[in-house]
Amino acid sequence: MKITSAEFIISNSDASKCPNEPLPEYAFIGRSNVGKSSLINMLTNHKNLAKTSGKPGKTQLINHFKINQNWFLVDLPGYGYARVSKKTKETFQKFITDYFETREQLVCAFVLIDIRLEAQKIDLEFINYLGEAGVPFCIIFTKADKIGKVKAQQNVAAYKKKVLANGWEEMPQHFITSSSDGTGKESLLTFIDQINEG
Ligand code: GTP
Ligand code: MG
Repeated sequence: MKITSAEFIISNSDASKCPNEPLPEYAFIGRSNVGKSSLINMLTNHKNLAKTSGKPGKTQLINHFKINQNWFLVDLPGYGYARVSKKTKETFQKFITDYFETREQLVCAFVLIDIRLEAQKIDLEFINYLGEAGVPFCIIFTKADKIGKVKAQQNVAAYKKKVLANGWEEMPQHFITSSSDGTGKESLLTFIDQINEG
């Protein structure tokens, strides 16, 4: 699939105020700084459509981007950012969980994981939460340009073991990406296209 148009529609902190057009949407979630906003820019061929930063905690709202006039990409705040106050964390958590639990248009959540890191408790808990909430999701391993291909495969295999040990019967569908060199772009867009075309 080619992305021919990508436009910012709205930011908000209230899941009920998200656009009400019945278009399929795909949301990016994961720890702060994992590369959610960068991946949206990579997929849409934009440098600054979604705001990115070297410092964690950049994205603080639910951001809707309309793609090719007929589906949405959604950039969400990261979880696990230690430097925001407890109150802010709770507020984030509430609107993010509201979003996942009420958003009927949501077709698939992409849970982003830094490919360099060992499985983190917070990510495994989040995946379990999505499973319990009945939200379809895939895993996206990010920043693949930072390690070699062999190491990447080893880390994905190790991650799979952790996911299985965590009670899952199989490893969810997953992708390996790099927003720096475009790895994974075609696979992800093809995946989304196949769902959209039903
Ligand atoms: P929050 O909005 O704070 O939750 O972060 P985020 O998950 O949206 O991360 P963001 O896209 O802002 O990227 C965080 C940092 O990682 C930035 O400095 C990016 O340039 C860098 N980054 C993101 N993706 C990649 C990647 O694939 N490769 C490399 N080398 N750096 C990346
Ligand atoms: Mg962001």
